[in-house]
Amino acid sequence: MIDSSIIAIDGFASTGKSTLAKMLAKHYNYSYVDSGAMYRGITYAALQNHWITSKGLEEAKLFEGLKSINLNFEPLTNSLLLNGINVSKEIRTQEVSNNVSKIATLPVVRDFLVKQQREMGKRKNIVMDGRDIGTVVFPNASHKFFFTAQPEVRAKRRWEELKLSDPTADFDSVLKNLIQRDAMDSQRKVAPLKIAENAIEIDVSDLSVAEVFTLLLKKIES
Ligand code: CDP
Repeated sequence: MIDSSIIAIDGFASTGKSTLAKMLAKHYNYSYVDSGAMYRGITYAALQNHWITSKGLEEAKLFEGLKSINLNFEPLTNSLLLNGINVSKEIRTQEVSNNVSKIATLPVVRDFLVKQQREMGKRKNIVMDGRDIGTVVFPNASHKFFFTAQPEVRAKRRWEELKLSDPTADFDSVLKNLIQRDAMDSQRKVAPLKIAENAIEIDVSDLSVAEVFTLLLKKIES
């Protein structure tokens, strides 16, 4: 059965998935769900609670701690609320980016979030972006896209974004992090980043946001 109320956008880090997913959601009056923000939210909580230390990850503490984590999106602004507190800025730091893919390999974390993501899809029409939306979370989504782009193009975009809040951010660390995350996300055992069978692949390296948007609308409506 095809689920026509769901648009899935997966792909490599910093390919503009969220920007385009938000634009599509607005255009079709769908809700937008940033599944990556949820993995980042858990990672932020793990850092705050010292479930991740310089020695590594305290898995038992993290598993226990998940019970006390409540994630929600504030509908008007798409802000991520962690136990009622807006952590949208905090989840975008390099520290969170450097730890999130490790947390995202854990099956317990994935089960915890995938359940919530599927619930969100039951309640309303949604556009969701991430790594496993078309393959695992909503394999029956009617529209699936997979974004790729050259690493340098992606790192430049992310670096420029990051510099606004952190003037010390440096390009090489951003590039290194993207490459490492892509590798970990693609190689993990559970729900690895890969193109879904019937997804449309788009290389956004040389396309403007407006061009990608036009292309997506064309594909959805054809
Ligand atoms: O925005 P960016 O492309 O940097 O990444 P994100 O969407 O915020 O996702 C952050 C990380 O969460 C990814 O690198 C993955 O490790 C993980 N993730 C995942 O495993 N599955 C998803 N559906 C979404 C994100």
